Amino acid sequence: KKTKNQMLVIFGASGDLTARKLIPALYNLYKGQHLPEKFVVLGTSRSFMTDAEFREKVVSESDFLKSKLDKEDKDFIQQFTNQLFYQDLGDNYTDSYANLAKRIKELNEEHGTEENYIFYLSTPPSLYESIAKNLCDQELTKEDTGWKRIIVEKPFGYDLASAKELNDGLHHYFEEKQVYRIDHYLGKETVQNLLVTRFSNSIFEPLWNRNYIHHVEITNAETVGVEKRGGYYDKSGALRDMFQSHLLQIISLLVMEPPINSSAEEIRDEKVKALKSLRVMKDEKDILENTLRGQYVASQINGEKVKGYREEEGVDPDSTTETYAAVKFFVDNWRWKGVPFYVRTAKRMPTKVTEAVIHFKTPHHQVFPSQDTYRQDNKLIIRIQPDEGILIKFGVKVPGLGFHVEQANMDFYYSDLDSAQVMDAYERLLLDAMQGDSTLYARADEVEAAWNFVDPILKCWKESDAVTTFGYAAGTWGPKNSDELIAEKFGWRNPGDL
Ligand code: BG6
Repeated sequence: KKTKNQMLVIFGASGDLTARKLIPALYNLYKGQHLPEKFVVLGTSRSFMTDAEFREKVVSESDFLKSKLDKEDKDFIQQFTNQLFYQDLGDNYTDSYANLAKRIKELNEEHGTEENYIFYLSTPPSLYESIAKNLCDQELTKEDTGWKRIIVEKPFGYDLASAKELNDGLHHYFEEKQVYRIDHYLGKETVQNLLVTRFSNSIFEPLWNRNYIHHVEITNAETVGVEKRGGYYDKSGALRDMFQSHLLQIISLLVMEPPINSSAEEIRDEKVKALKSLRVMKDEKDILENTLRGQYVASQINGEKVKGYREEEGVDPDSTTETYAAVKFFVDNWRWKGVPFYVRTAKRMPTKVTEAVIHFKTPHHQVFPSQDTYRQDNKLIIRIQPDEGILIKFGVKVPGLGFHVEQANMDFYYSDLDSAQVMDAYERLLLDAMQGDSTLYARADEVEAAWNFVDPILKCWKESDAVTTFGYAAGTWGPKNSDELIAEKFGWRNPGDL
């Protein structure tokens, strides 16, 4: 695909994301010759900086770029940073937007970016609408000459009502087709591959339903705690931070019907339908039975002391915010009726891993009885990260007398592919937005459908006295009662196991 000449304007450019993710991603795109011939980045934020200071700052704050400075990349980095500019917004917004607009126009003239602009909002969501309005007032949103796009980061809303408000706010100034809501999980190769696994393989899709699938399990575990983001995280919690966004994206790709083609709208239509078919939990009883909330407490990991969540900087010492969330739910449609989905996400787990496990049913009639039927059932394990790959577990005859069955593995690793050079999520997503492809971005109705499922749980967790946030020692697999949620004859799979 052709990438047209353009300018990327980053709001909140003095922040952490710009130096840590956006600039390194743009640099890799530059080095890989994916950027258009005429391309500039204009950073903006309240702080004052000159262009030179901005260039220096993003390089010195990016471990990735810094590590390359004394190598052969030095010249490339120099050439790349020559395309970076900065304009401060100061405190007086009205004047400063006029100045920003002036600078954008000047840079556009000088560098031939053809009035194609992407506005990347790496700011708190509370600023989205006012930035959009200011851009509109400066006539920077009209598409009569060049296209205009706006990228917004999560959190996209705090609940359904605020997500709708954000959507409505943006839609005053931008059409939906101009809005790109970033969810970096959609930029991951393995998440995109869910579509290919399902819809390009006739060995999987015919089995992908209630007739053959017993249950689906998804684990998203991180070893880190909340780090420096206590202030944000304490108002958010695991359900908002991970489940509403990244995990419901994964779920929608696992659950959706086949789209009629691979266009952004067809795929997103099916994802919205999938999200709408998740059974919304109605009352407290339902929510108490099907969800679990936990919070890490101080402990030792590999002999090293780690703080409990409530001792973290920025966190209320009496906080009940969850750092562990598990949800069991059903999908009310023809394909999935009666198949339970178990999903958990947490910080301070024993290992960093994200995987989806499709557990297939035991064969209807067992010719070769097994002591431990469940363990012999087929499983398809999709390793989203790390060790990206796919593992299939199937029964084989134990060599020797009789017909004893045991499980064998068929294991595929992405790293074995010749073209294993996996693009970073931000690289892929930025390039897609530059090319006007919104397939891997969340549409307004998608985000709202996700909130619609999560909202009653959040409300009940907040309001009900019956809800407990159970403690778990940092470095363990969550609260002691976490297996009760998945109370069938199996517990959670030990993630990462072969
Ligand atoms: C972010 C969350 O969206 O995703 C973080 O806000 C989380 O809390 C991160 O750590 C996880 O991303 P990844 O790509 O490391 O799995």
